Amino acid sequence: MPRARLSRSGWAGFAIAGLLALGVSAYAARYPIVGPPAFAAGLRDSFLRHPWAIYVHAGFGAVALGVGFIQLNPAIRSASYGLHRWLGRAYATAAILGGAAGLYLAPYADTGPIAATGFGLLAVLTMLTTAAGWIAIRSRRVAAHRRWMIRSYALIFAAVTLRIELPLLIMAFGDFVPAYRIVAWLCWVPNLLAAEWWLRRAGARMPPELGGAAA
Ligand code: HEM
Repeated sequence: MPRARLSRSGWAGFAIAGLLALGVSAYAARYPIVGPPAFAAGLRDSFLRHPWAIYVHAGFGAVALGVGFIQLNPAIRSASYGLHRWLGRAYATAAILGGAAGLYLAPYADTGPIAATGFGLLAVLTMLTTAAGWIAIRSRRVAAHRRWMIRSYALIFAAVTLRIELPLLIMAFGDFVPAYRIVAWLCWVPNLLAAEWWLRRAGARMPPELGGAAA
């Protein structure tokens, strides 16, 4: 994704997504730093039963969301390949550990099995896509690495979309329960579809070594 290929509106969208990612990352980082006073009111009792799981989940999730966004920035990526590699290791470790803690927490999700299944599947796919991206670059398959990491970050970005969609769904339904069950799926399925759409569309314009149409 060289700089010249993003339009002005593309860069504006990139900047807005970055601000949202950093905002949610800071919100989540409060969990391991502040402890129980930071817990969301309605989920406090559940988290008090698994405090270490939510600290690991929110702490590593915050790192993955923030570092992952830096990794997507083509200017930073091309400035230093060494930095990209170190941040990439931090991202992959954080996404897999945060995802594993998310998988542990999923069965206890508020409102029951529909939400638990949505979050559980999100956790499994986050770990799988991230591991696939890591394995791909270890075997020097750059195009596959890029595709898997875009999918991985689309899933990590569910932390942002959930916090935009949930208040809107609560307003629409006038009730938390259906809103939470829906958001456990709506926070990540469209992200993944959008990533696939973008990869197909951008793939046609990419050089073969980055997974373009000629690859
Ligand atoms: C890998 C994808 C993710 C999965 C599967 C996942 C899953 C979960 C689950 C199951 C809960 C508990 C919900 C409940 O008990 O009802 C939760 C809460 C939470 N997660 Fe995640 N999550 C993911 C990504 C992230 C990321 C990237 C962050 C960091 C930005 C994050 C930050 C939080 C926070 C702060 C909470 C506490 C609830 C709140 O204050 O909103 N999660 N997550």
